[in-house]
Amino acid sequence: MTGNHDKSALEQVYAARSADELAQAYAAWSNAYDRETAASGYCLPFMTTSWVARYVPRDAGALLDAGCGTGLSGPYLWALGYTNIDGLDFSEEMLALAAARGAYRELRRATLGETLPWPDNHYAAFFSTGVFTEGHAPASSLDELVRITRPGGHAIFTVRDTVLDSGEFREQFSALEKAGRWRPVEESPPFRAFAVAEPEVLVQAFVFEVI
Ligand SMILES: C[S@@+](CC[C@H](N)C(=O)[O-])C[C@H]1O[C@@H](n2cnc3c(N)ncnc32)[C@H](O)[C@@H]1O
Repeated sequence: MTGNHDKSALEQVYAARSADELAQAYAAWSNAYDRETAASGYCLPFMTTSWVARYVPRDAGALLDAGCGTGLSGPYLWALGYTNIDGLDFSEEMLALAAARGAYRELRRATLGETLPWPDNHYAAFFSTGVFTEGHAPASSLDELVRITRPGGHAIFTVRDTVLDSGEFREQFSALEKAGRWRPVEESPPFRAFAVAEPEVLVQAFVFEVI
């Protein structure tokens, strides 16, 4: 997800046909990512801090930024008093930039949609922005993210409108609810992911409480 400023980077991201290709596309884009998304008014890493602050006490424990990218959320959550944040991403290059911000305790290379390298009930909450979108992490990623979040913890993430149904996110939400693994807490109306460019790119934020 990005603006119109570097079509080649965007084209590589959307042309990716596998996790490896997508990780390579982000590697190529990593150094320009912050500048280009800022120019487009990309707001999701900053907006998500509102939902974290609404539902997660500062002393709740460790938080996971799932698909943290360059770690745009970290410093702003830190400023709000959340100083125990980990991140995962499948791009080493994006993780290196996140590490340079100094706001993350641990950063690990891991792939959403595969088994995650943490034990059950490890995190007080996870949050994720811009990752549940076209050609990115599948709805099935939520299984593992919920597994590593403790009961009473929260799942806070955005989903792009174009994949909500086609990517079977709604089905996954219901399946996890029917299995007694989480309950819905809040669903935002659709809103723009970019304040400046691409008004057609809409996302919704979702909050669930893990049971
Ligand atoms: C649009 S960026 C969002 C990064 C950050 N959350 C933000 O909002 O700026 C998408 C990120 O998800 C990562 N990503 C995409 N699919 C992934 C997957 N299946 N597993 C792990 N990371 C993934 C990419 O490497 C990239 O860093």
